[in-house]
Amino acid sequence: MFSKSIITTTALSLALCQQALAASAADWRSRTIYQVLTDRFARSDGSTTATCNTGDRVYCGGSYAGIQNQLDYIQNMGFDAVWISPVTAQVQGNTVDGYAYHGYWQQDLYELNSNFGTADDLKALSAALHARGMYLMVDIVVNHNGYNGAPSTIDYSVFNPFNDEKYYHPYCSIDYSDTSNATNIEQCWVGDESVPLPDLRTEDADVASGYQTWISQLVSDYSIDGLRIDTSMEVDTGFWSGFLSAAGVYAVGEVDEGDADYVCSFQDYLPGVLNYGTYFPLVSAFSSTSGSISDLSNAINTVKGACADTSLLGTFSENHDQPRFASLTGDMALAQNVITFTMLADGIPIIYEGQEQHYNALGGSSDPFNREAIWYSDYNQQAPLYELIATLNKVRKQAMSDDGTYLTYQNYPIYTDTTTIAMRKGKMVTVLSNNGANGASYTQSISSGYASGTQVTELLTCDTLTADSSGNLAVPMGSGAPRVYYPTSGLSGSGLCGASTRKLRFMPRPKPKYVKKPKVKTMFRA
Ligand SMILES: *[C@@H]1O[C@H](CO)[C@@H](O)[C@H](O)[C@H]1NC(C)=O
Repeated sequence: MFSKSIITTTALSLALCQQALAASAADWRSRTIYQVLTDRFARSDGSTTATCNTGDRVYCGGSYAGIQNQLDYIQNMGFDAVWISPVTAQVQGNTVDGYAYHGYWQQDLYELNSNFGTADDLKALSAALHARGMYLMVDIVVNHNGYNGAPSTIDYSVFNPFNDEKYYHPYCSIDYSDTSNATNIEQCWVGDESVPLPDLRTEDADVASGYQTWISQLVSDYSIDGLRIDTSMEVDTGFWSGFLSAAGVYAVGEVDEGDADYVCSFQDYLPGVLNYGTYFPLVSAFSSTSGSISDLSNAINTVKGACADTSLLGTFSENHDQPRFASLTGDMALAQNVITFTMLADGIPIIYEGQEQHYNALGGSSDPFNREAIWYSDYNQQAPLYELIATLNKVRKQAMSDDGTYLTYQNYPIYTDTTTIAMRKGKMVTVLSNNGANGASYTQSISSGYASGTQVTELLTCDTLTADSSGNLAVPMGSGAPRVYYPTSGLSGSGLCGASTRKLRFMPRPKPKYVKKPKVKTMFRA
């Protein structure tokens, strides 16, 4: 398939004049990410009433132009990066498994999914984000393609560019109960027999090089700043180094497993991984008043020791594959606690669209019910969790600006009991509770590590406390609310709790580091 590469003058001149902004892992560390499911966030017509029955698993009309028109909603919440769904052309799907509105069943790497808009629409979204100083993260899949029909009936010529059976592993169904068998995890197929997902031989040089050519072109064509890599644990680890250097940008991989050591092991190959090592105990600790705080505390310590760089993990408490938190409990205080952890613990915080509106996956809990249309919220910027997230984004930015080590300082538990966990990250002390909104009031003494007499401000209520002669804080807990302490002297310029604001001035986008693309690019025949 790659024998006849055509170098056209168009391709050559494009290659010479197109340069991609390459956002590195270090550039991403300070960011926070809002996860958009492109089909479900915003429509081009701006409708807030268009029907979207999640159970139907069909396209609901969200688009790149729709996202672009709602960037205020994302930016006013404090986010400076947006993760969108895979952009490539998809198999249609069927009534058994639903349709490919999520973007994880691609067939053609070199064509866009026209349901979301045109190439110009995607370029316009990218440019609009950059004009606001925001980053574009694009979800990608290299593990598999998607096909409508049983594995034995697959016509491989429909795929582009991997259009022959020889590029794929023979069919076997992946067994997630055996992650110790690398052959099973890396070669067997995800999906089912109705929409099977043929598994690419990423260990072969021609497949690896085809993917490198593609990703380099995609990143350059749409000025992509970072990648979220789907099903990355299902790809052979040897694939990543060549692929990532062709991409030239930060990437965070999906390893959807609960074993923190296993999840962290993938950070030896990828700059970031989604923080599934913390996710399960985190949600479990806060989704009921009897959740285990000690399991959460243990997970924090395990991840802290096992992951190569905790500041580059993608830390989250909801996504499109997991239950909506509010489907597990409607308690608002518990939702506040899980969000406070997500935003202020280690890693790059990721909030999944709708979490800020306390969406609860009506009719279900997880896929497909957790993929509600965000337009039904009227993009309400006064929703309580929206406002909480906006405040926590300010808090994180202030800690970064006050303390150059904040992002790489590893958050760790300094106190736990059956319902309370206190953690220290740099100069910040966060105290969380799973007592819920009906929780009683009590005073919890926390050995904070602050010097005697340090005055600290609780950034969600603006109350102040002073550390006693042993550095203890007498923390007033109540109604299950989270507490976030920071030395009052470190708040100037933040605008938080009456502190001065920085003089407003135009902050130019930092001068981009341009990476020269290879001078000659090849184009494959479709
Ligand atoms: C590992 O998985 C492959 C693919 O399913 C299978 O053929 C093989 O027997 C498994 N090996 C072991 C040791 O279970």
